[in-house]
Amino acid sequence: MAPWLSDGTVELSALAGDGDVAALVAGEDDDIAHWLSGAPSTLGTAARHIDRCALDWRGDWFRPGAALTWGIRDTASGALAGTAEVQLSAADVEAGTANLAYGVFPPWRGRRYGARAVGLMCGWLTATTATQLAVVRVEPGNAPSTRVAEQAGFVRSGRSRGVAGAPMLRYVRALR
Ligand SMILES: CC(C)(COP(=O)(O)OP(=O)(O)OC[C@H]1O[C@@H](n2cnc3c(N)ncnc32)[C@H](O)[C@@H]1OP(=O)(O)O)[C@@H](O)C(=O)NCCC(=O)NCCS
Repeated sequence: MAPWLSDGTVELSALAGDGDVAALVAGEDDDIAHWLSGAPSTLGTAARHIDRCALDWRGDWFRPGAALTWGIRDTASGALAGTAEVQLSAADVEAGTANLAYGVFPPWRGRRYGARAVGLMCGWLTATTATQLAVVRVEPGNAPSTRVAEQAGFVRSGRSRGVAGAPMLRYVRALR
């Protein structure tokens, strides 16, 4: 199960239950569907996604394709505000490097919750794994995501390739 992490304002915790399934579907906009879900979600696909997340946490974290996923929760209300994930063996990312991704549901944007989630994931990576470097790959033109990376202490480091070989900006942060 995903470990519980908190900075006092947001919490990262396991996705679970019908409430999270409904919140994932309700919170998804076109950008999240494109960047994180891969396609618009239904209650069925969201439920299967949550099951898969639990399996990935229970399995080999370094298995290629495994995504270690948390729900981002607003501490004050407990509401699910988005999701955050780490891949320890991502395609097109060098060994020893963790690939991070995140999405914040539209009603919760504008509070820097994305940067807070990234900060918590980086702290967890440093404390729990030997991973040297965290990377965020951002499509040129995705200004909010670029800002999240910068706010979380990442610096621009060349280019990369994303889904279907699309050119991506690469941001990195040393973990130790
Ligand atoms: C990226 C995302 C998580 C950011 O949400 P958030 O953490 O709430 O971040 P904020 O809304 O606080 O915005 C972050 C910064 O981007 C800025 N920003 C937002 N929209 C912008 C725009 N269209 N152009 C320029 N800057 C913009 C904000 O002003 C803010 O900067 P500031 O804090 O210095 O004012 C959210 O937009 C999202 O879920 N996008 C879709 C999924 C996605 O793209 N994920 C990233 C994949 S790598």
